[in-house]
Amino acid sequence: MGKRNVTVVGLQWGDEGKGKVVDALAGTCRYVVRFCGGANAGHSVMIGDQKYAMHLIPCGVFSPGVVNVIGNGVVFDPAVAIEELDGLAKRGVAVGPDTLRISSAAHVVMPYHRRHDELAEAQLGRAKIGTTARGIGPCYADKATRSTAIRVGDLIDETVLRDKIAPIVALKNKVFAALYGAAPMDAAAMADEYVAHGRRLAPMIGNTGAMLRRAIAEGQRILFEGGQGTMLDIDHGTYPFVTSSSVSACGVPAGAGVPPGAVGQVVGVIKAYTSRIGAGPFPTEQDNDIGARLRERGNEYGTTTGRPRRCGWFDAFAVGYAASLSGVDVLALSLLDVLSGLEEVKICTGYRVDGTVLADYDPAVLGKAEGIYETLPGWAEEIADCRKLRDLPREARAYVRRIEELLGRPVGFISVGSERTASIIPMRAIEGLR
Ligand code: GDP
Ligand code: IMO
Ligand code: MG
Repeated sequence: MGKRNVTVVGLQWGDEGKGKVVDALAGTCRYVVRFCGGANAGHSVMIGDQKYAMHLIPCGVFSPGVVNVIGNGVVFDPAVAIEELDGLAKRGVAVGPDTLRISSAAHVVMPYHRRHDELAEAQLGRAKIGTTARGIGPCYADKATRSTAIRVGDLIDETVLRDKIAPIVALKNKVFAALYGAAPMDAAAMADEYVAHGRRLAPMIGNTGAMLRRAIAEGQRILFEGGQGTMLDIDHGTYPFVTSSSVSACGVPAGAGVPPGAVGQVVGVIKAYTSRIGAGPFPTEQDNDIGARLRERGNEYGTTTGRPRRCGWFDAFAVGYAASLSGVDVLALSLLDVLSGLEEVKICTGYRVDGTVLADYDPAVLGKAEGIYETLPGWAEEIADCRKLRDLPREARAYVRRIEELLGRPVGFISVGSERTASIIPMRAIEGLR
């Protein structure tokens, strides 16, 4: 199967600009597949003056002929999906059973998952994770528990769904009352609502794993659209300040139901600096004028929650770790325009922990890590209109080159604005791109 397919993953703490990169590549693919996370994701695609914030529906919906897939590894919130589908339809983006398939094996995010997420975070107080409150962790917890799980396939069998919801809600009511003093939820009303969701979505639900394996056998090109970023990975991120799924390219086979060889070419998306939303260690954070400037110029406010994002310098040590984990072939560098106007720009190349330079990256010690920096000259020019590498100021080109050197990987895509066409493709490094 070679490298026909392509996997797009974030190499930082999410919001690297994956949506734009997926949209740029989607037209070269037959399928665009989400394999991890859920409505905690917020992927932006901007076409002309129209900005779309995608939470559950893959970013392939803007490219004709693409079949979008929500894989088994996703936690699927039908209420959010329906709202998103209705919102897209209103704006003239029609999505139906021919262009969206939802895995019957994906797990359903229920109202009690969102409730649990909020209650648990409120109780943690200052120790909270800073989740998106989309019920992601509680839903994956029920997936692992098994006896309290509801899968998408259950939504389309009214009897099964009602028989499952009643005892689960009775149990959740007891737990939430005991732990948080919360008021009970109405199981019958919830069942009515989710039976209706099931009826609405039924034509799109099916065995997506079988469909994708057949597509692979036929040689069709598939794009796997990552959610979040590697530093938020449940196993390899800054645990416990992470999300609850495998978000690197390692999550593709299990989360989509395809063999490991189907991952294809891996595109690692990086922001030209770093942002993080929610709590947890962030060694290159600039809790000062620089951070504030990056936040304002980069419009760094959450696509899903609207929360201000924490901002700091590019961390090549962390990204190198993330790139090696996913086996990244080529980098997509975004938001380079945000750095214009800085006198100098810094890149973190390593960490010192307790006075010793760390040899191997280890997310577990980040709380004690102190960044080691290189300083490069900045550039004053605005670059949003640059479309060729040679249009960029010399200092910006040097910054890109230094990132390539430090990471030992080529930059095959540079984004200089949120709009679809605001990009530079320096070389033919990404399959399918000019
Ligand atoms: P994702 O979750 O990785 O898809 O990223 P988000 O959509 O959450 O966040 C990226 C934000 O930056 C969005 O508001 C995009 O519209 C915007 N964006 C993407 N690329 C660029 C760029 O090159 N320059 C600027 N200024 N904004 C960008
Ligand atoms: P995209 O796909 C940025 C963060 C949350 C929180 C932690 C756990 O748009 O890059 P969760 O709700 O998943 O239990 O929250 O993970 N988080 C993200 N941060 N971008 C995302 O997705 C994120 N999805 C989750 O802010 O710190
Ligand atoms: Mg996002």
